Amino acid sequence: MSLSSRVPVLAIDGPSGTGKGTVGSRIAETRGWHLLDSGALYRAFAFAASEQGIALDDIEGINSLDQETEFTFKTTSSGEVEIRVNGRDVSMRVRSEQGGRLASMYAAVPAVRSRLIEYQRSRRQDPGLVADGRDMGTVVFPDATLKIFLTASPEIRAQRRYNQLKSKDFDVTLRRLEAQVTERDQQDAGRKVAPMVAAPDAVVIDTSHRGIGEVVEEVNRLLNIHLRERD
Ligand code: C5P
Repeated sequence: MSLSSRVPVLAIDGPSGTGKGTVGSRIAETRGWHLLDSGALYRAFAFAASEQGIALDDIEGINSLDQETEFTFKTTSSGEVEIRVNGRDVSMRVRSEQGGRLASMYAAVPAVRSRLIEYQRSRRQDPGLVADGRDMGTVVFPDATLKIFLTASPEIRAQRRYNQLKSKDFDVTLRRLEAQVTERDQQDAGRKVAPMVAAPDAVVIDTSHRGIGEVVEEVNRLLNIHLRERD
């Protein structure tokens, strides 16, 4: 067993609007674990690539981008992840649904995914890591201590995304968001490399009619059991 594989990982995957981010950041905070918001990484990478005019098929450009660009992610007191590209705070720009769409396009490129995997794995540090995304349990941390896959109905997910974006003053409509979220999920689930799918050993939780506190409690309960089992 390598040194880092001793560090426990809670992998939370699923489509947008299922509560992954909120559940993950609450658990990381109460346990004092590190947090990897891998969606923020894909969003920041896509933002920088498109700003620098790097096309989706420009493998050389993609390969050199992360060596020349510094990405920083800082969890703020409100549990949000502040995203900086070369020191510039781009959180608002990359958090928009357009930012999500752009991320989803670059995320389907194998060269992008392999560039970002090492950084994601390097976040596995003591005393533990909560990692949320689409392929945490399937590709990045296949040996995670516990794998959770969150789901919710498309209507509820779109409504949650709407509330989330509205609270940040984004100009969105529920109808348009419903279509955009569905399109993004189809793209993420249908891509050839690291598609969004529940790992065979993941626990699937439907959050449609469950409050965030209830989901956090359930995941914590399962995590305690899995942590005891590995001792
Ligand atoms: O989680 P979030 O909505 O911020 O992710 C934005 C996009 O980044 C997703 O729609 C997906 O295309 C991509 N992503 C991914 N793999 C991850 C995390 C995010 O492909 N592990």
